[in-house]
Amino acid sequence: MSRLRPIALAGLAGILAAGALAVVGPVLQGEADAADPPVAGKATLRPVSDFARIGDKDARAVALFEEAGKVITSPRCMNCHPAGDRPTQTNTMRPHEPLVVRGPAGHGPAGGMTCATCHHAANFDPAGVPGHPKWGLAPIEMAWQGKTLGQICTQIKDRTRNGDMDMAKLVHHMAEDDLVGWGWHPGAGRTPAPGTQKEFGELIKAWVDAGAACPKG
Ligand code: HEC
Ligand code: HEC
Repeated sequence: MSRLRPIALAGLAGILAAGALAVVGPVLQGEADAADPPVAGKATLRPVSDFARIGDKDARAVALFEEAGKVITSPRCMNCHPAGDRPTQTNTMRPHEPLVVRGPAGHGPAGGMTCATCHHAANFDPAGVPGHPKWGLAPIEMAWQGKTLGQICTQIKDRTRNGDMDMAKLVHHMAEDDLVGWGWHPGAGRTPAPGTQKEFGELIKAWVDAGAACPKG
């Protein structure tokens, strides 16, 4: 008995482990789509005060923008700022399924499959569909995918390509716009953008205050 018990227990543990794997397996697989490769996780942003010791203004601006760039280059932002006509999805930024296209105003083709057919005013977690009243693609001149952070930086300062925003409006857009804000509230199973929108807005403001130099390249 005393020798059998551990064996029986080991057998039981084996059965339990197999059962647990059977349950966990598909869950992990389902999540692989939304969370693989693991980007941001619960990634944080360094506070503006961390950059105060950088004496050179341009170097400080570049460092601040690079920190803010953790948000800008996150899939939550990039998926809506593609270089073509089709949005991308998940952390792997794969082409949107089903095939949808931007149409004249970024909301899908007139009379065709518009974004609002599936994306409603709020996230719908039971079906994993993100939502926002203004859901639609960023205009092509605001495309970020395939660009370096330096190129994106130059582009977002360029009033011919940023929706004619001056720097004050740009800071406000980053810090306050609620479609941008969706990036931190993307619904169940999606990795939020790093830090908070407030911290991101503070980094962008500090970058502008330091002269808004862009990373090279
Ligand atoms: C659902 C799609 C969507 C998501 C997600 C999204 N954007 Fe946008 N973005 C847009 C649209 C559409 C515009 C055009 C202006 C507008 O309607 O607000 C835009 C414009 C911008 C602009 C101004 C123009 C420029 O220079 O590119 C900035 C800055 C911006 N977005 C930042 C972000 C950031 C930062 C995130 C992630 C935290 C983000 N966006 C996520 C759709 C999106
Ligand atoms: C037939 C339904 C359907 C239509 C139409 C549709 N979408 Fe989607 N979209 C989805 C679903 C479902 C997801 C969630 C997929 C996932 O995360 O696995 C999604 C995810 C996305 C994402 C990824 C968000 C993220 O970062 O995780 C973007 C961006 C997006 N859609 C943009 C658009 C745009 C822009 C349009 C219109 C031009 C559009 N979609 C039209 C169903 C649709």
